[in-house]
Amino acid sequence: MIRLCMVVGLAAALAPVTLVACLAFWYAWWRGWPPRRVFAAAAWCLPMVLAWLGAIAAWPAGARAAHGAGAGAWWFRLVAAPYRAWAAMWQLLAHGHPVAAAVAVAAPAVPLGIVAGGACWAYRRFRMRTGAGGLTPESPAAFDARQWRHQVRTAQALIAAPGSLPLLSRSGHVVVGAAIRSLRHRAGRSAAIPYERLRAHQVVIGSTGTGKTTLLLRLWAGFMAAGLRRYAAGSGRRPLLVVLDCKGGASSRKVADRTRRVLRDAGARSTAIWPDEATLSLWALPPDRLVTTLLDLIEHGTGGAAFYTDVMEALVELAVYAPCGPPVSSADFLTRLDADWLAVGYAMSGDAEAVSVIRSGKRALEDVRLRFRALWRRLGAGLDSTGLGAGGSFADADAWYCVLEGTAEVAVAEAQARALTDLLAFHALRGDREILLCVDEFSAVARRLPIWRLYERARSLGLAVQVSAQSWEGLAGSDDERWRVAATAEGGIWLLRTPRPSPVAELAGNRPSVDTSRRMAGAGPWDDEGLSHAGTAPVLDGDLVRRLEVGQVCYVYRNGVTFLQIKRLTGRQAAIGRGAAAGGAGGADRVPGSAAAAAGAAFPDGPDGPDGLRGLGGLGGEAPTEPLHAVAGSVSRTVPVAGGRGRPGAPPPGPPLPDVSEVLDEAFGARRG
Ligand SMILES: Nc1ncnc2c1ncn2[C@@H]1O[C@H](COP(=O)(O)OP(=O)(O)OP(=O)(O)O)[C@@H](O)[C@H]1O
Ligand SMILES: [Mg+2]
Repeated sequence: MIRLCMVVGLAAALAPVTLVACLAFWYAWWRGWPPRRVFAAAAWCLPMVLAWLGAIAAWPAGARAAHGAGAGAWWFRLVAAPYRAWAAMWQLLAHGHPVAAAVAVAAPAVPLGIVAGGACWAYRRFRMRTGAGGLTPESPAAFDARQWRHQVRTAQALIAAPGSLPLLSRSGHVVVGAAIRSLRHRAGRSAAIPYERLRAHQVVIGSTGTGKTTLLLRLWAGFMAAGLRRYAAGSGRRPLLVVLDCKGGASSRKVADRTRRVLRDAGARSTAIWPDEATLSLWALPPDRLVTTLLDLIEHGTGGAAFYTDVMEALVELAVYAPCGPPVSSADFLTRLDADWLAVGYAMSGDAEAVSVIRSGKRALEDVRLRFRALWRRLGAGLDSTGLGAGGSFADADAWYCVLEGTAEVAVAEAQARALTDLLAFHALRGDREILLCVDEFSAVARRLPIWRLYERARSLGLAVQVSAQSWEGLAGSDDERWRVAATAEGGIWLLRTPRPSPVAELAGNRPSVDTSRRMAGAGPWDDEGLSHAGTAPVLDGDLVRRLEVGQVCYVYRNGVTFLQIKRLTGRQAAIGRGAAAGGAGGADRVPGSAAAAAGAAFPDGPDGPDGLRGLGGLGGEAPTEPLHAVAGSVSRTVPVAGGRGRPGAPPPGPPLPDVSEVLDEAFGARRG
């Protein structure tokens, strides 16, 4: 009782400090701030305090006497300043000048009050965290739930503020969104990750419609903007982003268009959309890699089928290593899978052994040819070349968005994913780009593209891989592989709402915690007495992950987690009326890599020429991105594609319409999962 009276008396005597402390405490509670931020606010008052003390020390003696600023040596004046301010405040209040009283005491009272408020807030949180605070044992859980709501509201307010959260922070980190809550990570207003984390493997897990693609889009833009900035500063190689969207269909085309707009705003000059607008040529691979890739693309079994696999390998090798040079297109390759053709070719070079192998494998050659014919029909023209130079390479663009029809035709998507990663792995050997490969909706192709193999291969090539899956199970076929994938995600794991976060929670590890039991005092409230014991608790609260809203994500990195609200990137809208005929730089920008000619137009100074730096400042005023049908039309006119990709007879496209879905989302609310 005496203690309580003393505390109340002290609070009354230091009324201004008490008032500011209460305000600071309430504000921290209301905003859900960690105490660190309250103390940081107190630190911001330091200039005011220094100015005040400086004025007191330097004030001329005459003026001091006139204004009653107090006597004494300068050091005495400084020491006595808080007391004199306090006494002056009461005097001014007594004379009916409350505003002057507030001004007189503000300099010492505001920082002291904020620090006191922050200390009280830290103590309150500690009591609640350890289960010792509140009226009942349920209070800590209710307090935590309320704090979560406050923290989410604060993060959403920051997201909604115009111009908040630019893509790159001042230190060059990639800002993903507004931080909601951090545990064992540095707490700040925004959640940002260093560029280096995007150069390491990452995993994204979240149920359908929770915002995986939206998160990835922001990470891609951040990778591009930060990578280009480093490239311009001469501290890194030029970035290359390759996205394999394994969903397919109209929704993938929409995301592709959004990606292009967002990446353009981030500084990328060109985003190639495969296979709609640009192609890649498998035939650019050197012969030894070509044989491996071609054999990988055909599914083959074990046991009795292994014999057939060996025969096929021998025949494919003969076709690829034919004396006239490696094949340049699928048509060329299929022509070679003919016993007579091969026999004549090898006979002319005097290779009798090869001719005898060809003669003995005549029947098998027919089968191999049939299988490859079916494969090329499946793969489509996107990986082929006409033999006239069409079929680009990854070097042709800053970003490649590859649409794989994983939902409609799984086998096709699997084969395409396999071929594209092989092509990229070969391209990575050149070592002139910093490559990020992202496989969105990985589970669609996981059967033929074992992710851990991709990871291991990528690591040796200096290539970073991001994969997204709808669940923990979608990451790989077996539990062993899933653990391997998650454990090697050195860039962190992004967890959106998912019903099974426990494996990732296990990876995140534990933190020290205190658990308190409280004594029940009969019918009344719980007593203050009890027992506490120190132990450990998981860093990642799985129930919180199960409750996340669309657009909220938990970033797990090492032994810490940060919950954040993603700031969605929308990119500039297309302008109505600027059709495919816009031509010029814009036209080239849109169709890189679709053919050697188009690539040349897109890079007048070569892929690494000075033009590459121009993108950094954005492309203000340049031609906008048109919807895909318009671009496809421009391809069909500019690129004479054999193999059925172009649409020479197609009617000229009308004026493109802008993608207004994001505006509608903002206006009427987004789809909620
Ligand atoms: N950060 C966000 N802010 C606002 N809305 C969002 C955010 N993230 C996602 N959404 C909304 O949720 C919808 C689905 O998002 P998105 O396509 O990114 O989810 P997804 O997990 O990739 O879905 P799917 O599994 O179907 O591919 C978006 O169209 C958008 O309306
Ligand atoms: Mg998606």
